[in-house]
Amino acid sequence: MCGIIAYAGHRPAVPVLIQGLKSLEYRGYDSAGLAFVHRESLHLFRASGKLEALETKLDSDHVLHATSGIGHTRWATHGLPNETNAHPHLDINAHLAIVHNGIIENFQDLKTMLAGFGCSFRSETDTEVLVCLISQRLKEGGSIPEAISWALNLIEGSYAFALISKNHPGTIWAARQASPLIFGQGTGENFVASDIPAFLPFTRDVIFLEDNELVEMNSDQWTVYDARTLEPITKDIQAISWDVQAARKGGYKHYMLKEIFEQPQVIRDCMTGRIERKTWNIQLPEIESLPIPKRLHIIACGTSFHAGLWGKYLMENLARIPVDVEIASEFRYKPLVTEEDKVYLTISQSGETADTLAALALVKKHGFPVLGLCNVVGSSIARESDHVIFTQAGPEISVASTKAMCSQLVLIFLLSLYWARRKKLLDSQAVENAVGSLTALPDKLELELPVMRERAAVISRTYSASRSFFFLGRGIYYPLALEGALKLKEISYIHAEGYAAGELKHGPIALIDPDFPTLAIAPDDSLLGKIKSNLKEIQARKGKIIALTQDGTGLNVDDEWTIPKTWGALNSFFILPALQLFAYETAVYLGKDVDQPRNLAKSVTVE
Ligand code: G6P
Repeated sequence: MCGIIAYAGHRPAVPVLIQGLKSLEYRGYDSAGLAFVHRESLHLFRASGKLEALETKLDSDHVLHATSGIGHTRWATHGLPNETNAHPHLDINAHLAIVHNGIIENFQDLKTMLAGFGCSFRSETDTEVLVCLISQRLKEGGSIPEAISWALNLIEGSYAFALISKNHPGTIWAARQASPLIFGQGTGENFVASDIPAFLPFTRDVIFLEDNELVEMNSDQWTVYDARTLEPITKDIQAISWDVQAARKGGYKHYMLKEIFEQPQVIRDCMTGRIERKTWNIQLPEIESLPIPKRLHIIACGTSFHAGLWGKYLMENLARIPVDVEIASEFRYKPLVTEEDKVYLTISQSGETADTLAALALVKKHGFPVLGLCNVVGSSIARESDHVIFTQAGPEISVASTKAMCSQLVLIFLLSLYWARRKKLLDSQAVENAVGSLTALPDKLELELPVMRERAAVISRTYSASRSFFFLGRGIYYPLALEGALKLKEISYIHAEGYAAGELKHGPIALIDPDFPTLAIAPDDSLLGKIKSNLKEIQARKGKIIALTQDGTGLNVDDEWTIPKTWGALNSFFILPALQLFAYETAVYLGKDVDQPRNLAKSVTVE
């Protein structure tokens, strides 16, 4: 998704902007650009492809003179990913430059209106319409904030943008509506960015801008206004405690690998303050006032959706609460079937996924309580939900989500136990077994991860030439089969499908042949006999099998991958990283761009 950074300060702006854009790379992008004012003219640099392509263009002398400017990484929504469509965009007179994230839905109508005023357009983007609107209004007199306010009243859709003007060097204006934008206050310098890591090396003091807020800043001053009325708004500065190191690779080759290996710590962090050691009671003060739901409706996208599906199995089993799980983009366009005592749970790592956010808004409009399970503090979903539980995974940089899912599973596990206990479905001994096993898990996982990585590397080589894969699971491991297939698709570009193992014979088995391998999740549980039968059916068709299994299961397959045993559903915390490492090692072996896979964005903030 597009990334914005804007800087007004005392340092040469271009290196600050490039550094900021680099830390926004994880959001996914296809082109980049920046603009600044120097010697009374606007300078614009843009390139398609990676940031290196932009950097090679920045060789002229004046790039080090400007001390303010705007930068952007673009993930195409309107118009091809090429240099012409890359941001910043200029108005017709090259007096203003803008960078924008989001979609202006009525841009065609506005384009026609502007053409009537004699405006012509250089790009196919919706963004150019916004800068031309502002410029058009300025021609009629008034200040830049007034022109912005007028333009924003005409726009339908979502935006976060930053704007500079040739006539006001050193000043930057930025505003948001349904797209993330954060202001950072430094000493003698100020920032605006789509995400905190973009300016974290310079300041930890931030303001999470709200919808319809406009900030005007230069190196020494800033003011936040209501974008409609231009009344100043008082805002509180929040101090961010992340260290810069947390947002860097920490010695690993890829963010994805680092994040997979962080999972033991993530489990510890997620448990911190949640378990009363003497009684093993679960503490979730965030939802104390929420009645136990009669029915839970989970809404999410991508990996978070798989976490929700996993939660359905666990919640129904432990807390006996019926659970529906829906993909947000489907949910939001269906009639809302109302039911008393239903609670909606939105799951989102970023807290900015457009479909999940829209689903949340719909549910709230009908007066249902919404519980958000979110990783990013200050994100839109976190702010909009009635109750929020933060997942404590820390910043996740790799586009392919790993540790965030781990954190979501831990919190769903605790939530299920919490409601099960309140419904008196589990005695204290049962809770002690479950929570005691969870507490012991991080140390075991820490020892196991390097072993798993080695095994993943060996097996992935054997199968890396495959063009397709099945991932099979039963019960609570079916959602993990879906996730294993998604991870492989995302980063290695090998076609993979996750299936409930029992469903194989209803069609998919027709595809099995010696070149179509299956990765089966076959732990030592009550469904082992069933999955063994499914695997026999595959072997009868000469299909190759990798089985993620445990000691004593007696499987006879091509590649057995043995993982440790733990309490019930907690086996998922070994299976999930094994699947992630399998995808990771396959992608690395095939030479793919692991952290920034093609066509994908970390945070899908447009529909
Ligand atoms: C994108 C990411 C996925 C993520 C999904 C949902 O597609 O690439 O990794 O699972 O969005 O994101 P969320 O932030 O809502 O969990």
